[in-house]
Amino acid sequence: MENITIPKHIGIIMDGNGRWAKKRMLPRNMGHKKGAEVFKDITRYCNELGLESVTFYAFSTENWKRPQEEIDGLMKLFKQYLIDAFDYEKENNKVIFLGDKSAFNQELRELMTEIESKTADRTGMKLNLALNYGSRDEIVHACKEIAQKVSEGSMSVDDIDENSFADHLYTKGQPDPDFILRPSGEKRISNFLLWQCAYSEFIYMDVLWPDFTRKDLDSAIAEFNSRNRRFGGV
Ligand code: IPE
Ligand code: IPE
Ligand code: MG
Repeated sequence: MENITIPKHIGIIMDGNGRWAKKRMLPRNMGHKKGAEVFKDITRYCNELGLESVTFYAFSTENWKRPQEEIDGLMKLFKQYLIDAFDYEKENNKVIFLGDKSAFNQELRELMTEIESKTADRTGMKLNLALNYGSRDEIVHACKEIAQKVSEGSMSVDDIDENSFADHLYTKGQPDPDFILRPSGEKRISNFLLWQCAYSEFIYMDVLWPDFTRKDLDSAIAEFNSRNRRFGGV
């Protein structure tokens, strides 16, 4: 990839696992299992490309509506991957969980906290995993934190601006996503990074996430490079 600008931050909505499984007459959880393998490889690739941040949307605040069997399978898979996450040890990634951890069981919550603290001082790519993440929930959470500070007197109303507000989001300190990628053919944002995507490019692809390859990411980055971003200017 010559003369290509590598984005600083990519947001990826890992969608299409269920349809991938259905096409093969497999249970939906087999699609999630394959999707998790793809997640692992694409993470490595993002490291190789030298991204500053990457955010993977893995489970939304709305995904609890799914059948219990699918949720149980997903929780098992998350646990397996979080234990395995120390595989990234060699990669120097700083792992950050975006979302409300309180909905998960104690074991998962402890694993998440442990991974975050063990990787907190790392200097490599920020690997954001959006788990029980909803952007509206994130914004409400930020408002509550700010309101609390104002009522305690550690922040004044005049201190509230776009920057200080963003500092209360789960993505604090990270650049906004340059582009949001959604495979699977759906063309919607589904409560992902609503504040942060104000000037993100949107790239939709027909490939189902379990079939997604490094080449597909190359095409998405090439597509991003063909866009003319103006940020409101001329
Ligand atoms: C995305 O794949 C994974 C999660 C939301 C957990 P889906 O499970 O939404 O796959 P489709 O959209 O049904 O194909
Ligand atoms: C968005 O996908 C959430 C994740 C990929 C984790 P969904 O499959 O839940 O979104 P909708 O229901 O198609 O909007
Ligand atoms: Mg879906």
